[in-house]
Amino acid sequence: MEKKKIVLSGMRPTGPLHIGHLVGALNNWVSLQEKYNTYFLIASLHALTSEYANSERIPEYTKEIVLDWLSVGIDPEKSVIFDHSKFEHHYQLHLILSMITPLGWLERVPTYKEQIKQLKAKNIDTYGFLGYPVLQTVDIILYKGELVPVGEDQVSHIELSREIVRRFNYLYTEVFPEPQPLLTKVPRLPGLDGRKMSKSYNNAIYLKEDFDEVKKKIFPMMTDTRRKRRTDPGVPEDCPVFYYHKAFSTQEEVDEIVKGCTTATIGCLDCKKILIKNLEKVLVPIKEKRDKLEKDKSFVDDVLREGNKKAKEVAEKTMDEVFTAIGFKNE
Ligand code: TRP
Ligand code: SF4
Repeated sequence: MEKKKIVLSGMRPTGPLHIGHLVGALNNWVSLQEKYNTYFLIASLHALTSEYANSERIPEYTKEIVLDWLSVGIDPEKSVIFDHSKFEHHYQLHLILSMITPLGWLERVPTYKEQIKQLKAKNIDTYGFLGYPVLQTVDIILYKGELVPVGEDQVSHIELSREIVRRFNYLYTEVFPEPQPLLTKVPRLPGLDGRKMSKSYNNAIYLKEDFDEVKKKIFPMMTDTRRKRRTDPGVPEDCPVFYYHKAFSTQEEVDEIVKGCTTATIGCLDCKKILIKNLEKVLVPIKEKRDKLEKDKSFVDDVLREGNKKAKEVAEKTMDEVFTAIGFKNE
């Protein structure tokens, strides 16, 4: 039998997960578990690059995210679920890679300057933040990750990982495979107000919310502004509700909505009711599972402890090869 490829991805523990994460990443992660050797990590150190002043909240968010993952079907029997800050190897390899990564490569990463501008208030003009993609490279290559499911915005990071790997393998010994991005080709879910879905805009639907709260958020949701009256036709592509339908409704329903909206034969309220019915089917079971898991106080801790242990064993082996490759191995 052919060896299963290694898939690795992660998320920063900076807040609870929303339906954008579900549609954009988690559904895909859940199905990848069936075919690949999957690692999913909590990137606490990446959270620290921007949240170093609020670092005490990172462990709390870590637990929330693991609960979110488990409740959507990430399975600790199939995947290694871990926190990369819990053993020494990520710190070690980060330092070593920082020696061989030219500054120019890092300054060129498009997310770098953008984020510095966007997060001005957080003062991320630091040595650590410049190294963010190096830290991400470590996450991937410590486990010899081959495929990295990410969104469009992260592709430049994986490109950089490939360059760092090539340089390491060329300078020393061929230790690492070149990772490939596995692009998630789903359109981004907009927030309730049509802007990017984000905790900071207060326009998200969270996986841990009660469905009654979700309903209360859908009813007043923004729609296409052309539909001032029930008789005014609309343009679905200009309505955030429509993007939710594309993610949660059947193709038949989506076709009906396009027809109904553009000919003003369906009202926005009815359109939203169909969405609510479909969202309920997906979100209620997730929430039920989450509530159940949450009752078992030690469950998340146990999952993380087990996952950290498995990950550490692999990381340790790789670091052995790294120290040997650079000639630092004590005999
Ligand atoms: N940088 C990723 C993000 O912001 C999170 C992340 C950390 C990651 N380590 C990773 C993603 C390793 C893929 C692989 O979304
Ligand atoms: Fe949006 Fe539906 Fe109203 Fe059209 S009918 S504007 S898609 S809510």
